[in-house]
Amino acid sequence: ELTVDTGAKGKKVGRDLYGVFYEDINHAADGGLYAELVQNRSFEFDRVDEPSYHGLTAWSEVERGGTAAAAVSGELPLNPANRNYLRLEVTGGPAGVLNAGFNTGLPLKRGERYDLSFWARRDTPGTVTVTVESGSDAYGKAAVKVRAGGWTKYETSFRATGTTDAGRLVLLAPEGRTDLDMVSLFPRDTFKNRPNGMREDLARLIADLEPRFLRFPGGCVTNVGTYDPYSENQDRRRIYQWKETIGPVEERPANFNFWGYNQSYGIGFYEYFQFAEDLGAEALPVLSVGVNGCGENRPLTDPAKLDRWVQDTLDLIEFANGPVTSPWGKKRAELGHPKPFGLDYIGLGNEEIYPEFFDNYPKFANAIKAKYPDIKIISNAGQTSQGAWFDRMWQFARDQKADLVDEHYYNNPDWFLTNNRRYDSYDREGPKVFVGEYASRGNTFFNALSEASYLTGIERNADVVELAAYAPLLANVDYVDWTPDLIWFDNDEAYGSPSYHVQKLFSTNVGDTVLPSTFEGTNRPVEDISGAVGLGSWNTSVQYDDVKVTAADGTVLLEDDFAEGSARWRPGAGTWAVQDGAYAQTALVEDARSTAGSADWSNYTMELTARKIGGAEG
Ligand code: AHR
Repeated sequence: ELTVDTGAKGKKVGRDLYGVFYEDINHAADGGLYAELVQNRSFEFDRVDEPSYHGLTAWSEVERGGTAAAAVSGELPLNPANRNYLRLEVTGGPAGVLNAGFNTGLPLKRGERYDLSFWARRDTPGTVTVTVESGSDAYGKAAVKVRAGGWTKYETSFRATGTTDAGRLVLLAPEGRTDLDMVSLFPRDTFKNRPNGMREDLARLIADLEPRFLRFPGGCVTNVGTYDPYSENQDRRRIYQWKETIGPVEERPANFNFWGYNQSYGIGFYEYFQFAEDLGAEALPVLSVGVNGCGENRPLTDPAKLDRWVQDTLDLIEFANGPVTSPWGKKRAELGHPKPFGLDYIGLGNEEIYPEFFDNYPKFANAIKAKYPDIKIISNAGQTSQGAWFDRMWQFARDQKADLVDEHYYNNPDWFLTNNRRYDSYDREGPKVFVGEYASRGNTFFNALSEASYLTGIERNADVVELAAYAPLLANVDYVDWTPDLIWFDNDEAYGSPSYHVQKLFSTNVGDTVLPSTFEGTNRPVEDISGAVGLGSWNTSVQYDDVKVTAADGTVLLEDDFAEGSARWRPGAGTWAVQDGAYAQTALVEDARSTAGSADWSNYTMELTARKIGGAEG
C-alpha cells in the first residue's frame, strides 16, 4: 500500500534538475555531433600525436589517367594556427585525392543539399572538380574555378542524386601544383539550420531529452594537457582553452585530446552556447583551474600564466553575458549573437583532486565573485571512488562557500539500488549538489532500471540536488573510449541506450513538488542479471584481472593482466596505457572488437579472469 500525503507542502523540484553532460569523448564531436563529413579536413593529424596518424589520414591519392603526388606541407600555411595543408602535384590528366570520411564513409541523402568549401592556392588558373562517389556511382558533383594567386576560399553546393552511407569525396585538380586546405562538406540540413552546425539526428535525440542545462566541453578533455597551454610553441596537447575555439574555423588550432585523437574545435564555445540556447537549456561551461585530474598532475603554477588563465575565465563570462560595448560582448556580437547568452553557472575544475587545487581555486572564485556576484560557482569533488580526496574536496568547497559541488560516480547497478537514500542525510546548509557525471556500469535494461530507481532518490532530495546528468552522452560505435554511453551512433544512424529512455522519461516528466509517501508491503527482490561473463556480455560490476581475446585462427588479439589495477588500451598504439582508478574495462573489450575489424563476436573467444575488487577470484 502506497500512501501519499497530498496535504503536505512537499519539496519543490528545481526546474533545472535534469540536463546533459557533453564531452568530446568517443569522437562525440568530429565524426559525431559536428556535422562536418570530411575527416582530417585541415591535414593536421600527425604521427607525433598518435602512431597510426599521419598528415594524410583518411586521404589517399586518386589517378584517373594522370598521376597525383600528395604530400602534407607546412611551408606557407593558411595562417599560423592552421599549420599544415595538402600540396598536390598532378601530371598528365585527371588525378587528385579522396577522403574516406568517418565510419564507412560520407553519408549522403538523395535530394538533400550539401555545402562544399575549400581553400586553394595555384600559380595558374584551373578547374577543381569534386564528386561524392559510392562504388561506381557519383551522387553529387561540383566544378570550381580556381584563380591564380594566394590562398582563397571557394564555396559551392550540390544536391545529392542518391543515398549512401559509404561515399568518398573525390577531388580532382588540374595539371600542376594545387595547395589545398580546410576541405569541407556539410549537409545544409543541420540542427536549427545553423551553419557550421550540429548533425540533425544526434542533436534531435539530445533535444528530445528536453535538457535544462548543457555542461560542456567535457571532463578530462577540459583539464588534461601534457604541456603548458601558453607555451610559445603551440604544444600539441593542451588544456582546453575556450579562446582557441571561437572565430573562423580555419583559425582554430587543432588539439590532440586526452582521449587520444585529434580534435578540430569545429564545435567551439560559441557553438556550445548557441546549442544550449537552441535546446532551451542553461549553458554550463566547466573550465580547469589549471590543475589536472584524470591521472595527470602537471599543474599551472607560474603566477603570470595563472593570472592570464583567471582573466580568460572572466573574459568567458563577459563573452557570454557582457554588453556589446564590452570587448568580449562585442566579439560575441560579431559572431552573430548580440544578445547575451544569459550564463548563470560556471564550473571550476573537473576532478582536479590535487593539492594545487586548493591554491588555484580561490584565485578564480574570488575574481568571479568580485566581478560577477550573481554567477553560481560550481566546485568539484572528483569521483566518489576517490575516497578521502572526495571528502577533502567537499570540505574545501564548503569552506569556500561554493554554490554547488560537482560529484561523479560510475558504479555497478547494485550500488544504485542500495544508495537510493544517499542524499537523504546531506547537509541542507552547505553547497547544493551537482551530480555532474554518473552511470551504472553497463548499457543493459537492468542498468537503466537501477538508474531509474536511483533518480527517485534524487527527486526526493531535490532540495539539495540541484542538477544531475548522466555521462558520457555520445559514442561513435567505431571509436569507443568509454562505455556505457547514453547515445550511440555511426555516420548515418543513431539510437538511445536503455539509459537514454530512462533519462527521457524522467526529464520530460519533472514534477513541481515531491510529496512525502510511505510504502507498506514486502520489497520484491531485484535480481542482478548483469552477472554473465562471456562474449558480448560481461559483468561490468567487476574489474577484470586478466583479459585475453583470441581470434578463431588462434591469433591472440588482446592479452593483459592488470597487475597495476586497471588499464586502458589505446587503439592502434599497440601499447597499454596504465591508468589509475576505475577506468572501464568494457572500453577495452570494445577496442579489441574494433581491432579485430568485425562486430561478429562469434569469431572470437574471450577469456576473462574476474576479480571483484576487494572480493574473491571468480
Ligand atoms: O565521463 C567520462 C570521464 O569520467 C570524464 O571525462 C571524467 O570527468 C570522468 O573521469
